[in-house]
Amino acid sequence: MIKKVAEAKKLQGIISPPGDKSISHRAALLNSISVGTAHVSNFCVGDDRSSMLGCLQSLGASITKHSNCPVSGSSECFEIKGEGHQGLSEPGDVLFAGNSGTTMRLISGLLASMDFYSVITGDDSLRNRPMRRITQPLAEMGAVIEGRNNGSLAPLSFRGGNLNGIEYDMPVASAQLKSSLLIAGIQAGGETVIHQPAESRDHTERMLMSMGGNLKSEGLTLKVEKSDLKAVNVNVPCDISGSAFWMVAGCCHPNASLRLENVGMNPTRTGVLEVLSSMNANIIIENERMEGGEPVADVTVESSDLVATEIAGDIIPRVVDELPVLSLAACFAKGTTVIADAEELRVKESDRISATVQSIYKLGGEIEETSDGMKITGSGLLNGASVESFGDHRIAMTNAIAGMIARGETIIEGAESASVSYPDFWDTIENIRS
Ligand code: S3P
Repeated sequence: MIKKVAEAKKLQGIISPPGDKSISHRAALLNSISVGTAHVSNFCVGDDRSSMLGCLQSLGASITKHSNCPVSGSSECFEIKGEGHQGLSEPGDVLFAGNSGTTMRLISGLLASMDFYSVITGDDSLRNRPMRRITQPLAEMGAVIEGRNNGSLAPLSFRGGNLNGIEYDMPVASAQLKSSLLIAGIQAGGETVIHQPAESRDHTERMLMSMGGNLKSEGLTLKVEKSDLKAVNVNVPCDISGSAFWMVAGCCHPNASLRLENVGMNPTRTGVLEVLSSMNANIIIENERMEGGEPVADVTVESSDLVATEIAGDIIPRVVDELPVLSLAACFAKGTTVIADAEELRVKESDRISATVQSIYKLGGEIEETSDGMKITGSGLLNGASVESFGDHRIAMTNAIAGMIARGETIIEGAESASVSYPDFWDTIENIRS
């Protein structure tokens, strides 16, 4: 699908981005292995949601969609009835995680702990993403796992059960890896001790603790033991990663005022706000409150005179999904922005360093690729061009935001990728622009 996005005269409006994908996935998975009934509202939308829910339902989880939530009163929610791990059973066919790395890695933690045989695969992109990071420690815990390329690529097969806790030094600061091990750890004998190299999103830890999981967090070390989980209702905050596109649009467009409501403000996710603030962005954060164990707030973003910054080191895992769109912001910031220590971007849904550099270069931006990031010198001007999405939702949406700020018209090929996490994205563009 091709979308054409012309330069906007003005950006204005109130936006309610989709429910947070990371929190939704954890709410579905962990409630499926808890005891009791939970209602999850403002669940994320898009193809990744279908991937996670499809895998859980193939494992026998009872998940029903209601059009009126009896608990939160919202217009839609999912009811998940759990009977602990015993409620799940051997799937009759190969599980399909689609494009969703979170689905494959988190579900793998679960499959490793289940006393049955299962196979999980994904689309072309996911079958080429690194899985050794999960298969190796899960095998050390006792699961029998096979996969292509000596266990490093999907499809992955599992014969799980009878796990024992291990002490593990994570080689990368990945929340997907950490969560996979925590999910296996709550079914393993003894203690599972995980040392993280840096902080990454902590939604699994928060949700496990709210469900009564035996989990301790000491600095960057997590300790988990076998746990019986109790179902919890979750009202998912709006996704800060989906919000980031509008934040950058608001800062970079010369005539913009955008308000984002009910945005998740978990400190392990707010790197994008810290980076934009360091770039001198006009951002107002209001109505800070707690919802279901997660902080949320309303965020207003207005046209800004941005300055360059450096994005490197421990902040990277807290801003990892927002780096493509922040590179776009750097095109409108005075000076040279350096993004480093971000080699993980090369193994996301696409090689996001190469995809971002190619897109911004075609739009006339001054950008240079490095092995672990990029350098962008802000010129304050981009020119519409024909750009690709590389089958990656975040690249498609970054290019669309660029199209509203660049002179002339931008043609985005592969625009359908946005539906992986944000099916309403194109309608929202039409609603806020004039
Ligand atoms: C996610 C963690 C991140 C992120 C992904 C979602 C999660 O991946 O890029 O979009 O929900 O745990 P890594 O933790 O592997 O970096």
